[in-house]
Amino acid sequence: GCGARSQQNNASNESGENGGASDEKIIIKFSHVVAENTPKGQAAEMFKELAEEYTNGKVEVQVFPNSQLYKDEDVLAAIQQNNVQLAAPSTSVVTKLYPQWTLFDLPFIFKDEENVQKAMESPEIGGKLFTMLEEQNLLGLAMWDNGFKQMHSNKAIKTPADFKGQKLRVMSSKVLEAQFKAVGANPTPMAFGEVYSALEQGVIDGGENTLSNVYSQKMHEVQKYLTMSNHGYLGYAVITNADFWNGLPEDVRQGLEKALAETTDWVRENSKRLNEEQLELIKQAGTTEIIELTEEERQAWVDAMTVIYSEFENEIGKDLIDAAKALW
Ligand code: LMR
Repeated sequence: GCGARSQQNNASNESGENGGASDEKIIIKFSHVVAENTPKGQAAEMFKELAEEYTNGKVEVQVFPNSQLYKDEDVLAAIQQNNVQLAAPSTSVVTKLYPQWTLFDLPFIFKDEENVQKAMESPEIGGKLFTMLEEQNLLGLAMWDNGFKQMHSNKAIKTPADFKGQKLRVMSSKVLEAQFKAVGANPTPMAFGEVYSALEQGVIDGGENTLSNVYSQKMHEVQKYLTMSNHGYLGYAVITNADFWNGLPEDVRQGLEKALAETTDWVRENSKRLNEEQLELIKQAGTTEIIELTEEERQAWVDAMTVIYSEFENEIGKDLIDAAKALW
């Protein structure tokens, strides 16, 4: 677009003097909402180091964790306005612009991590979802894993009936709301940064998240139970402003792409380990009882929750849902 240059200059040249001096650093602000000891928190730091190295210091990446800069609901607009150049919101955040992305929120749609990776790499799924972003000057650069979500609560949740009347925090996503309504719970959309205090004050009864998000937010300290349900997936779309990215000097962009590719590989290999380590830390804290489900018990959740698929066939696209199912 025609605004690319000036936008880029607004965002990136902080050295004051004009004249195209080659030592003017390009600043990339990277906004995210989680803590540093999480897959995304670590990946953001790794990307910073590699990006600065591979661009020979032409780029400085400034990472803003813990919703310091933007909450999830504002971050895509901030990217479009080039107020930040990188973010990695959960796929649920993208559903506000493109409901097709709620595919990733469907409960039990993916068998395991390998299944998710296949979906992300598949032209019919990941490719299609990434391409649509470009209509709104967003560029999807990579998918980063977190992992499967578990239920955290103050009531032991073992059967679908146990959900009844529970006020549960969800990310802003119609599918996530429908998933909990299907089992008689009251879903409450809420920003990530507000969840801990809402739990502490009893404004909500519980919610769903990955082990690393539960642990790093200390949710386990105010939740009596954690049900190992692996019922839904939480992953991230690494997104930039398309004009900004395409306006970068070729060598810089290549350096950034290399840094991103290595970081993405690292996340893929380490997110599961980080979540497992944090489960151990939650156990050690001794504040939360871990509930394991038998195959039969888990199947009851599958039966109760996957009924919502048909409700979302039009919004997500039956082709996308079928493509994901075909990966099993
Ligand atoms: C959440 O809101 O629970 C997650 O999207 C936070 C995150 O970015 O992992």
